[in-house]
Amino acid sequence: MDNFTFYSPTLFAFGDGQAKTTGGLVRRFGGTKALLIYGGGSVKRNGAYDAVTASLKEAGIPFSELSGIQANPRSGKVYEGVGMVRKEGLDFILALGGGSVIDTAKAVGMGAVYDGDFWDFFSGKAEINGTVPVGTVLTISAAGSEGSNSCVITHENGNLKWSIPKSEKADIVRPKFSILDPRYTCSLPAYQTACGAVDMMAHICERYFSNTPDVALTDRICEALLKTIVDAAPKAMEDPNDYAARADLMWAGMLAHNNSCGVGRVQDWASHQIEHELSAFYDCAHGAGLAVVMPAWMEFVFTHDVMRFARFAVEVFGCEMNYAEPEDTARQGIRRLREFFRSLGMPTTLKEIEGAKAEDIPKMVAHRKEKPNGFPFGGFVKIGPEEMAEILRGTDQ
Ligand code: NZQ
Ligand code: ZN
Repeated sequence: MDNFTFYSPTLFAFGDGQAKTTGGLVRRFGGTKALLIYGGGSVKRNGAYDAVTASLKEAGIPFSELSGIQANPRSGKVYEGVGMVRKEGLDFILALGGGSVIDTAKAVGMGAVYDGDFWDFFSGKAEINGTVPVGTVLTISAAGSEGSNSCVITHENGNLKWSIPKSEKADIVRPKFSILDPRYTCSLPAYQTACGAVDMMAHICERYFSNTPDVALTDRICEALLKTIVDAAPKAMEDPNDYAARADLMWAGMLAHNNSCGVGRVQDWASHQIEHELSAFYDCAHGAGLAVVMPAWMEFVFTHDVMRFARFAVEVFGCEMNYAEPEDTARQGIRRLREFFRSLGMPTTLKEIEGAKAEDIPKMVAHRKEKPNGFPFGGFVKIGPEEMAEILRGTDQ
């Protein structure tokens, strides 16, 4: 196990009815005038908006609203939010929704206290040096942004879907608090529930497939989370109001990405890097893109550490270990993962993503090259432009 620091300063208020604590939590973390950010309207239909605004009013916190954040959030709304925070003197940002809304809130928070363009943090021109505090009320178990130090925005100028660079400075964007009420996720369409499950599993796999030896506890935490998601996601899809399944998914999504699963070892992140090009090109759901990319990445790299993939097959999917030919077991695990994604209604090939075509692969690789330190990436197996193209060709079945 490598040395590590673990910093997860977010307060989590978990469970049915917790939104009534929103106003009090904003006050506790110093907020007196808030910017409430949300998406296309689901929060108005499932009661989250009413509960949160009632709590803010009860706590005497005035608020302005920035709505219409779309999935794969764009820079335009960030600039709008930065302008509002500055003009109206707002001192707290409250995100009500999923990863897209939360990431917009994080970017507005960083941008509002910086004299230049918020995109400088993404392009590597400037280091993050502060933020307006951010709190979240989560409505979808998926991206894990409610506890993470990541923030992913697509800049409309160049269609660049980039995240802030991994560094200690990125910890500044971790939310002050996150309210996780599984009830709000009961209104999710089955497709979004499935996308969320895939994304959480990917966050764990990006950390599980590592070359660092002797991280037994972290390995087992990863496996427990993966098994829980494999068990709970079909239940939540069959009965959207299954509170126990929704609760497991919600907490698993947070643990999958606050780095509990990543400490003490080198992490990979190749599948995410490749997927971000898919969602930039075709505006697909991030989880759907990952369902296509991750099994293809696994097929490309598994010979690098056959026993690791065999263990994944045995521990997560209950495959029988073939000691004579562990490659068989490893392949079976990848097959089972792909079948699991299919059983959730996820795409697993490029052509199932609307608009996607193999002819775009060179363009996606070229687009990736525009990113600072774009190549190589991947902590488990190094991926250069050729390897990225080959993995993408592997999705064209
Ligand atoms: O806009 P509304 O109407 O709210 O609808 C949303 C949206 O269409 C809907 N939704 C959310 N909660 C709902 C609901 N519909 C009904 N009932 C509810 N309770 O779901 C759709 C997707 O929402 P979105 O916020 O985009 O989902 P997700 O949480 O998957 O976030 C995806 C974004 O996060 C980024 C992804 O790349 C993508 O841009 N990521 C962020 C990460 C981070 N900051 O740590 C890590 C991830 O790896 C990921 O890259
Ligand atoms: Zn993800």
